[in-house]
Amino acid sequence: MSEFIDGVITEVPQQYSPAGELDHRVHADDHSNDWWRHAVVYEIYPRSFADSNGDGAGDLRGVRSRLAYLAHLGVDAIWFNPFFTSPLLDGGYDVIDYRDIDPVFGDMAEVEALIADCHSYGLKVIIDVVPNHSSWEHRWFKEALTTEPGSPAWARYHCVLGKGVNHELPPNNWRSVFGGNAWSPVKNADGTDSGYWYLHIFDSSQPDLNWDHPDVHKEFEDTLRFWFDRGVDGFRIDVSHGLVKAAGYPDYPQHADRAKRSAGGEIIDFEPLPHWDQDGVHEIYRAWRRVANEYEPMRAFVGEVWVDTAQRRAKYLQHDELHLAFNFGHVGAKWDALDLRERINEALLHDKAVGAPTTWVLENHDVPRVVTRFAGVELPKSSGDGDENESADDALRRLAVLTPEQRVVGTRRARAANIYMLSLPGSAYLYNGQELGLFEVVDLPPQFRQDPVWFRTEGKVVGRDGCRVPMPWRNEAPAYGFGPDGSTQSWLPQPSAWGALSVQEQQGRADSMLELIRTAVHARKSHEAFGETDFIWRDDIAEAIAPGRSDVLVSEHGGAGNRALVVLVIGTDPVDRPDSELLVASQPLTDAQIPGETCAWFSLS
Ligand code: GLC
Ligand code: CA
Repeated sequence: MSEFIDGVITEVPQQYSPAGELDHRVHADDHSNDWWRHAVVYEIYPRSFADSNGDGAGDLRGVRSRLAYLAHLGVDAIWFNPFFTSPLLDGGYDVIDYRDIDPVFGDMAEVEALIADCHSYGLKVIIDVVPNHSSWEHRWFKEALTTEPGSPAWARYHCVLGKGVNHELPPNNWRSVFGGNAWSPVKNADGTDSGYWYLHIFDSSQPDLNWDHPDVHKEFEDTLRFWFDRGVDGFRIDVSHGLVKAAGYPDYPQHADRAKRSAGGEIIDFEPLPHWDQDGVHEIYRAWRRVANEYEPMRAFVGEVWVDTAQRRAKYLQHDELHLAFNFGHVGAKWDALDLRERINEALLHDKAVGAPTTWVLENHDVPRVVTRFAGVELPKSSGDGDENESADDALRRLAVLTPEQRVVGTRRARAANIYMLSLPGSAYLYNGQELGLFEVVDLPPQFRQDPVWFRTEGKVVGRDGCRVPMPWRNEAPAYGFGPDGSTQSWLPQPSAWGALSVQEQQGRADSMLELIRTAVHARKSHEAFGETDFIWRDDIAEAIAPGRSDVLVSEHGGAGNRALVVLVIGTDPVDRPDSELLVASQPLTDAQIPGETCAWFSLS
């Protein structure tokens, strides 16, 4: 038991962390109406959540039938991945019409009913907008294809003359995020090559839009208003950092190291790639923010901003741009106290500098499930720095079939990591199935795979389908209750372990992941120490409960009168239990100890 803790700490300690590195206290303006600053947001991949009509694909009516589950879980908002008309070659991130609904998911009346239902449960609604590219079935691209390159219709995309004597080579050396070349040839009416190429930073079915064109600006501002007028509370902006391309489409820089260094050799910034994070993108978000500000209450934007540093991310969060940007530093965190601590410090430091709250994300529809990431699977070393080389995530998705022991370890760590995330100051995101402790399904039969990454790399990189396997609702039912009674369909096959992980099995079982997350979400809401509050490291307490160890993180949350202490034990050895009221713990504590690989919250109020 620590002598430092007797239930109440009256003085803020002087030394927060090595070299007193940071003081994460918020001296906030009044943001009490800004729900997005502290919300717990639940991400729904509509295709994989609940299927109402038995065709094997999740849909909006299915979501409507499960809103009570989400309200019970205690989340504040739902973010929906795209449900707009689409050939679904990239799961709906290839949009035909930004203001229409794909029949797989429902229709406009269904969305309107969904928004109303969410609001009646007190749930805010965030939808996805995909402004970097359209589908190749979008009316603009279809129109362009009927014209010659250089026509006004092509000007809405990036259509550029190739290199080589006959322009038989792409205009530059840019690579698609999904593998292969970022350019595809534009054909003449007779099927021969025109010498022109169109740009697609993702799949060839996703031509990049040209944000130098006024039609593109208007289309998206109209789309924002269209959905705001229908009651949508916010947008998640796909590939926010990618809209503007460097003038003249220069090749990637020759030098491998894009870091800019100070005279002392310290990295101070990075030269962005010519198709990412160009300065011009900020002007677009200033215009969008003006649109959001027209509404009462103000609508919110959360950007998918994959950039080199937390500093560059914070530029998107200036007061006249986006409200939030996913803190992907957290997604990349290892099961390692120092690594996690540095990532937390970095995010809080830079976001706070622009007055923005931080977001916390461990999972989404693009990354391997956290149970698998933290299961301690040894992977072959990969270089991970080129698109044809396998990244660590890619290797995990291909190879990490967990042994029963690894699943136990991964689940124990995921329990701790999940509730640790929910304690951190700002807003937190949960991806459907994360609350059930679903693991990455790495052994999907090839014929089911749908991720364009799989096709573009000819199966060398398996892609993201393994985190998109439909939700299990019931143990005994076919397709684990994903569809209506009697339906056996699910667009990706579910592993047999899904039964024991189903909602039915976990609900009401005190030791389940689902009940843990629910308890933590509710504790976070009812205790004023959590949400957007002060945060300081308590290394003095860490030293008292775990002398000489560096695998324990202890932080104090909240302000006067409403404080909490959060302990995260990364290592396997137990630590002394503070003598304070326990709020929630990821494993049972003993009277004297917190076990290893455990997170526990204590009230100091
Ligand atoms: C984002 C989405 C991802 C999609 C890509 C292209 O990264 O999260 O799922 O494939 O953009 O739209
Ligand atoms: Ca369906």
